[in-house]
Amino acid sequence: MPLIPQPKELIQKEGNFTLNRGTLILIGNSESDNEIKLFNQFLKTSYGFELMTTDNSKSPLNTIQIQVENPKKDQSGEYELKVINSQILISAKGNIGLFYAFQTLQQLLPIEKENEVKIPCLEIKDEPKYAWRGMHLDVGRHFFPKEFIKKYIDYLAMYKMNTFHWHLTEDQGWRIEIKKYPKLTEVGAWRKGSMVGHYNDQKFDDKKYGGFYTQEEIKEIVAYAKSRHITVVPEIEMPGHSQAALAAYPELSCTGGPFEVATQWGVLDDVYCSKEATFEFLQNVLIEVLDLFPSEYIHIGGDESPKTRWKNCAHCQALIKKEGLKDEHELQSYFIRRIEKFLNAKGRQIIGWDEILEGGLAPNAAVMSWRGTEGGIAAAKQKHKVVMTPGSHCYFDHYQGEPKNEPVAIGGYTTVEKVYSFEPTPKDLTSEEAKYIMGAQGNVWTEYMNTPEHVEYMIMPRMAALAEVVWGTSDVTKYQSFQNRLIRHFSVYDKKGINYSRAIFEVTSKVSPSEKGDEVVFTLKSANTGIHFTTDGTNPTANSKKYKEPISVTKNQTVKAAYFENGKQKSAVIEKPFFITKSTGKKISLVNQPHENYGIGGPFTLVDGMRGNMEKYGRDWIGFWGKDLEATIDLGKKQSVSKVTMDVLTNDGSWIHYPKFIEVLVSNDGKSFQSVKKVPAEEIRTMKGIVIIEFDKQKTKYIKVIAPNAGKIPDGKPGAGSDCWLFVDEIMVE
Ligand code: ACM
Ligand code: ZN
Repeated sequence: MPLIPQPKELIQKEGNFTLNRGTLILIGNSESDNEIKLFNQFLKTSYGFELMTTDNSKSPLNTIQIQVENPKKDQSGEYELKVINSQILISAKGNIGLFYAFQTLQQLLPIEKENEVKIPCLEIKDEPKYAWRGMHLDVGRHFFPKEFIKKYIDYLAMYKMNTFHWHLTEDQGWRIEIKKYPKLTEVGAWRKGSMVGHYNDQKFDDKKYGGFYTQEEIKEIVAYAKSRHITVVPEIEMPGHSQAALAAYPELSCTGGPFEVATQWGVLDDVYCSKEATFEFLQNVLIEVLDLFPSEYIHIGGDESPKTRWKNCAHCQALIKKEGLKDEHELQSYFIRRIEKFLNAKGRQIIGWDEILEGGLAPNAAVMSWRGTEGGIAAAKQKHKVVMTPGSHCYFDHYQGEPKNEPVAIGGYTTVEKVYSFEPTPKDLTSEEAKYIMGAQGNVWTEYMNTPEHVEYMIMPRMAALAEVVWGTSDVTKYQSFQNRLIRHFSVYDKKGINYSRAIFEVTSKVSPSEKGDEVVFTLKSANTGIHFTTDGTNPTANSKKYKEPISVTKNQTVKAAYFENGKQKSAVIEKPFFITKSTGKKISLVNQPHENYGIGGPFTLVDGMRGNMEKYGRDWIGFWGKDLEATIDLGKKQSVSKVTMDVLTNDGSWIHYPKFIEVLVSNDGKSFQSVKKVPAEEIRTMKGIVIIEFDKQKTKYIKVIAPNAGKIPDGKPGAGSDCWLFVDEIMVE
């Protein structure tokens, strides 16, 4: 059964039920009309007919018999679906459960149009594990029309997800009509140009760009979502990511402006000032937002808000004094608490990105953990609700396949399998603390997605994997089963014209140390067998060597591989050049472990023979957030060495900075080390991050490389005041 998410209990039986024009829907109440109407709409578009409803059938034969205990009240989503030869029986706790039963049924129906539709006999008992099964969409960086938002909601519904987190305000555009402040959309919804290519290229066009949703359109979307049992959670960002609002109302800033709606991605210094006028403005905005969105939670942002302006603002400093706050972090906490108080009084709860932990959490706030899972863990331990969205597994703006073959993305490397392996409830929580994990969500930041088709490509099929995770039936050890079901869903995407990524067919690779420890073993994998590869630099064909077992790499060479089916190439070619030196495949240890978001291969990444791509750095790099690199490599025996090469990255917009210096040390006992060379930051810059460190010949068994993190981001750079990222790859010893 190609069901996604996999139901909690599924028993397959012999035989089929045949659904045809004569099948009746048998139900005793009219409170479930909406769910039946949607099912009929599906039948009509797929097969060209609808079913009649009755509350009194002479015979149960050829019926879909429905029982709903508490149509409007029950929120559990529980349902049972029984298909026997003569009948389909659905019993659901509430209309949500009924809706999910119909979604399951839809997935069981054939994809092609038929007059008689056969459904295999089975029994399903099903309910979701997590209450927050979310997808986010940033409409600030790029704007997507109402019609696409509805499609997006359809995708959530198809996968039984229930929360649409709509990121409506950004530096680059304010997208929600607010009647009291018309300039928010007259001015704030339009920018004079956009970035072209990656942030690193610093190229712009000069095309006016923008758009916004009227309140009428928003009501329509919220209602559309509601009838599909999806809650729309609006995000109104504060105090950062607000330059578009400040362009419209510069008096709400610390400096008074003037400002333009931002054209450049990143983290900008101008944020709302903590003056009274700002609170009045935000409260008025929120009053209109509450009228449009009935959700319990209102997302107030809270992420990436530099303190630069607040540090130099008389208002903000006076408020810090008056309220007895320790610093600007406590001022941010004060800011969020005030907004929380306002929203709580209106019967709503706030949720914010994990930075709202800094300076103290507002009393009732829920936390959306994005910079890893640590924020979520800290919040749960403080008895606050949590939604997990760590970059490592839940950022669908990351690359999902070999970066070289993918459209430009922000960075990262998050495959379908990686998403599927996500466990929203961290192991280190007690069962009591674990109750605060509401669920998880996929985030879709759209700096590098400017069409609906591109958004589809980035979410499909990763959201299918996440849907199974949050439904609670994912099992990493059965990834193959998920993948087989997913491949069947690709036909549904094809039929519906959904653009999706075929990266699961791509050959993926893993490098491991060989038994002997002085070479590496290269393992290839695809969704199917049928990989062919070369090691002589030529492109693989169906006649190239077939991949059967891990390839042992002992010398500099390039492995190229692709997946073939019936002699036809079905995936892009992956190309992996190997650089084999004295450190390749050797034992390496780190004092600080890389950050979970950027440490996919662990410390071994630094000696795996593969160098990170300097342009599209989704893979092969490891990242440290605020921490230093201190790596020790055991060369196995005393060796003569005189050169170490290491790659480091810089990218202001992603808060990645070169280390303060790079130092090489040697030792024969692994305990007392002697420095042989230190390269200062200026030289790292001159060498553009490919740092070649030459020194007098040494005989040594151990090599240590130290690269201290640059520390705090300096003023004037994106993210000023926050910790820097340090990204390093391949340490090559010759
Ligand atoms: C975020 O990705 N800035 C929440
Ligand atoms: Zn201020």
